[in-house]
Amino acid sequence: MANTILVGLQWGDEGKGKIIDVLTEKVDVVVRFQGGNNAGHTVEVDDEKFVLHLVPSGIVRDRALCVVGNGVVVNPLALHEEMTGLAERGIDVASRMEISSRCQLIFQYHCLMDGMFESKLGANKIGTTKRGIGPAYADKANRVGIRAADLRHPERLRTRFRQQLEFYNLLFREAGVPELDFEAEWERLQPAIEMLAPLVTDTVLTLNRAAREGKDILFEGAQGMWLDVDFGTYPFVTSSNTTSGGACTGTGVPPSKIDSVLGVVKAYTTRVGSGPFPTELENEMGERLRAKGNEFGATTGRPRRCGWFDALAVRYAAMVNGATGVAITKLDVLDELETILLCTAYEVNGERVTDMPSDPMDIAAAVPVYESVPGWQQSTTGARTWSDLPKAAQEYLVRLQELIGAPVQIVSVGPRRDQTFEVQL
Ligand code: IMP
Repeated sequence: MANTILVGLQWGDEGKGKIIDVLTEKVDVVVRFQGGNNAGHTVEVDDEKFVLHLVPSGIVRDRALCVVGNGVVVNPLALHEEMTGLAERGIDVASRMEISSRCQLIFQYHCLMDGMFESKLGANKIGTTKRGIGPAYADKANRVGIRAADLRHPERLRTRFRQQLEFYNLLFREAGVPELDFEAEWERLQPAIEMLAPLVTDTVLTLNRAAREGKDILFEGAQGMWLDVDFGTYPFVTSSNTTSGGACTGTGVPPSKIDSVLGVVKAYTTRVGSGPFPTELENEMGERLRAKGNEFGATTGRPRRCGWFDALAVRYAAMVNGATGVAITKLDVLDELETILLCTAYEVNGERVTDMPSDPMDIAAAVPVYESVPGWQQSTTGARTWSDLPKAAQEYLVRLQELIGAPVQIVSVGPRRDQTFEVQL
């Protein structure tokens, strides 16, 4: 399997958790490199469903070491809760997980700030998950953030936490938001500090040692290309580099150690939160995709916006991420459709374009140009090989591969592990 970066090539929720789970069978280490508990990676095992937010998805298998890389923003309370929940279900996270000492920590004041920014933006709000992600990354860039290393030094942590909380309280007071009580917040953190401090290490050493020893590392991306803070539909993005470059800066594993990049792509498109989405279907077809695909956010429960496959978005994403292969998920959601549309160009201000515009305002103004292909109108959920797929479904995948410009290597036709198979087109 070698060292593989797995990333979403759309707006997140491509089904990365499921593909990671399937691939984890073959890897030694799974590492998260960006984002935080805004992510919700769903893995279904024997009719049991796990939704992972901060713990790498590899934890559901017995084997892999799970690493939270330096690029991740960690909310200690959320991670403590997630680990406790997994322990209750028989998964001992602590014995198989390391957290980078360089991770930035998210505290309650970041979450409040996230909510405050959003309400100030009013109708222009980003639609964040309100998990404090943006404010925590802002603290990192402002060089006032608190890092996981401090979990191992409670006195140092207490001093820094007090300083930061008091600073945020000044802002809350100004904005008329109720202030936080330092002692109460500090008290609340204690069980989390106790659980997490022993897991904090220099994960750069762990990961590079694993690479040197020829172990296989899977880099677990969260969100997706079009939510990347540099390349996404700014400002309607998250605050990290969700693209493959982030895997190196977010872990300390150099590019020369990366062997492949697998892009995960849903057979149609979804998006949660605000921002441009040219192929969005605000009609009965959109409702149909949402219902059949169970398109509700794994973290916030919000209904996802649904639309047709957008080849411009995915091709550009495959380019930026350097995708050496693609996994197509949720093909089965299209099973009943008579006709399927694929967006192959946009009309932007009267001009036809076939490359995704770099200006999000142009993406917002884009009118999709569609190609229509026949549906297969039969179930694919029982397919286990390429030849089990109906001819029209095969043709759909071949067309996707042509449009994306990277080989389709994996197809998923349902939420369970066994509903995934490798293909060679
Ligand atoms: P934030 O990451 O909470 O700041 O949210 C910024 C944008 O990214 C919002 O549109 C969110 O809905 C979106 N977002 C964040 N995490 C995810 C995810 O895991 N899946 C899909 N969208 C996400």
